[in-house]
Amino acid sequence: MNRALVAILACAGIVATFAAVFAADQVPAQKPISGYDFMTPEVQQLQDDDFANPGLLWVEEGQTIWDDTKVASGKSCASCHGDAVTAMRGVATRYPAYSVEAGHVINLEQQINQCRRERQGEPDFPYESEPLLSITAFVSTQSKGLPQSVAIVGPAAESFERGKAFFYQRRGQLNLSCSNCHEQHAGDHLRGESISQGQLNGFPIYRALWQTMGSTNRMFAWCNEAVRAEPYPAGSQEYVDLELFERWRGQGLNIETPAVRR
Ligand code: HEC
Ligand code: HEC
Repeated sequence: MNRALVAILACAGIVATFAAVFAADQVPAQKPISGYDFMTPEVQQLQDDDFANPGLLWVEEGQTIWDDTKVASGKSCASCHGDAVTAMRGVATRYPAYSVEAGHVINLEQQINQCRRERQGEPDFPYESEPLLSITAFVSTQSKGLPQSVAIVGPAAESFERGKAFFYQRRGQLNLSCSNCHEQHAGDHLRGESISQGQLNGFPIYRALWQTMGSTNRMFAWCNEAVRAEPYPAGSQEYVDLELFERWRGQGLNIETPAVRR
């Protein structure tokens, strides 16, 4: 290998190390505000209503899945983890997270599917399927009221940097980045829709526009399509990295799953 190339590679190594160290000192560009604060009082009331919030139907279904022993291993989630109220409390605040088993950063859906495959002997719940949305909503709601707090250093640092680059990258025919709308225009109106900071603390969310629950990755795809960019598949590493950066932007916001949005 020629000397110049060796020098460049050595530099890249140092830069990567510095990136990992400095990631710890980074501060989000804005004080995080929940999407809830951008909703009309009617939508907020629906979210706050412990009977009328439509997302609770998915949470209920999630409880059924949690207790289901009719799986290949005969072990329900509860057989191993016990009562979700205590076992899953705080878990959603930490995801996406680096998984030693997977060898990369995974989101909560993927951690749940890891348990499905490895510990229940069952195939993955497909992305955006009712069961995956339900069990994700069920696990997430156990962290309701607890602040988001993801790790972005160590083995998660590279993923974080990629997610950050994605967030600031202009794309699509409209040539807009996530930041263009959700940082520079948060609080403004776009075709009658009030633009929020694009935070994830309410996910999975019940969205009136969709008439159903949707995951973080479905939202990313929707926003990509809004600027006429090709969306990535749900569960792609690009979206998991973006989710990590997004959760970090909202560091400290309380989890409010299941949130209701327009
Ligand atoms: C046979 C036992 C077993 C079963 C069944 C099982 N899990 Fe797990 N689960 C584990 C173990 C062990 C870990 C920790 C190791 C790991 O990360 O995979 C874990 C980790 C997790 C985590 C991450 C917790 C954290 O603090 O980061 C979640 C979330 C989870 N399981 C959800 C589920 C759900 C939902 C189900 C049912 C669909 C399920 N598990 C079924 C054993 C099990
Ligand atoms: C053209 C402007 C625009 C761009 C660019 C855009 N979004 Fe959005 N986004 C919206 C609108 C409009 C909504 C729905 C209203 C709201 O919650 O802000 C939305 C909603 C969201 C939400 C849901 C917030 C909540 O509280 O439920 C998230 C998360 C989000 N966007 C993330 C992103 C990400 C990540 C990107 C970059 C890949 C992106 N958006 C790019 C316009 C945009």
